[in-house]
Amino acid sequence: MTRWLVTGARGMLGRDLVAVLKDRGEAVTGLSRTDLDITDTGAVGDALARWGPDVVVNCAAWTAVDDAEASEDAALLVNGEAVGGMAACCAARGAALVQVSTDYVFDGLGREPYPEDGRPAPRTAYGRTKLAGERAVLEQPGLAGYVVRTAWLYGAHGPSFVATMIRKEQELEQVQVVDDQSGQPTWSADVADRIHVLITSAAAPGIYHATSSGETTWFGLAQEVFRLRGADPARVQPSKSSALARPAPRPAYSVLGHAAWERAGLTPIGDWRHALQRGLPGLVAVTAAAEPAS
Ligand SMILES: NC(=O)c1ccc[n+]([C@@H]2O[C@H](COP(=O)([O-])OP(=O)(O)OC[C@H]3O[C@@H](n4cnc5c(N)ncnc54)[C@H](OP(=O)(O)O)[C@@H]3O)[C@@H](O)[C@H]2O)c1
Repeated sequence: MTRWLVTGARGMLGRDLVAVLKDRGEAVTGLSRTDLDITDTGAVGDALARWGPDVVVNCAAWTAVDDAEASEDAALLVNGEAVGGMAACCAARGAALVQVSTDYVFDGLGREPYPEDGRPAPRTAYGRTKLAGERAVLEQPGLAGYVVRTAWLYGAHGPSFVATMIRKEQELEQVQVVDDQSGQPTWSADVADRIHVLITSAAAPGIYHATSSGETTWFGLAQEVFRLRGADPARVQPSKSSALARPAPRPAYSVLGHAAWERAGLTPIGDWRHALQRGLPGLVAVTAAAEPAS
């Protein structure tokens, strides 16, 4: 049996990953930030000694994309330097390391899906810090290092665009959503599933893209949420990103290729619409439970 250790285990992906691993009968230890601050490399070494994992999955990250612009050093500490420390600890103990990363390592200016070995060129502080984490894992001697890039995540246990649209559908007659950014809406439970499959199938270390297949815009995603909720998709109106100034520029094109799965004899995550159909009920249930009783 594989022994798993998951860091950032109270985050949106971390919670789904721990649940998926438990469901599949794996031996898993999930550590939240309170249990283990990954910037404390001594504590990371102690945790590895205590739990003796075969594989560590790092779901901990600085994920506040806009805040990272003004606090790049603090974001780098978590997303880059801490990952380097974790990579060294894992290599020393012979544990594999899965580092979760992001589409933001690319420039977002492309027109065709970015392949796993496409040239990273981040345009944001967040993207630069996540790229530093990727490099720390891939360049660590003696480490079985996996970089699993995902994007446009939604899940039952965290804030997301999909959760916002579920709420807005209930509160507003019309919503405006940008129609000039393309990507692959991805359910966090699907990413958890692919991480499990990657490790248990003994796929070669390297970079894998855990995003849904197909592509849409935020506008298309919002319309699909409305449709699945039985609401009129015409209540969603298209708008332009230029109307929404943000500290970190959003990529216009965040579509990732999936060739590495096929090379490993594995299946990438399926179509984004099917994923949304499966994932939406969990988000709706959490949104309903969070509403104050009237
Ligand atoms: N969400 C997306 O759309 C998206 C897209 C692409 C890639 N990703 C990547 O997917 C991964 C998981 O993201 P997520 O959406 O699950 O994010 P999340 O919900 O924000 O979870 C991240 C977790 O990391 C924890 N954390 C932060 N600093 C830490 C530290 N120093 N030590 C230990 N834990 C720490 C956070 O704890 P606190 O809450 O206590 O701070 C939080 O529980 C990240 O690598 C992220 O970069 C996410």
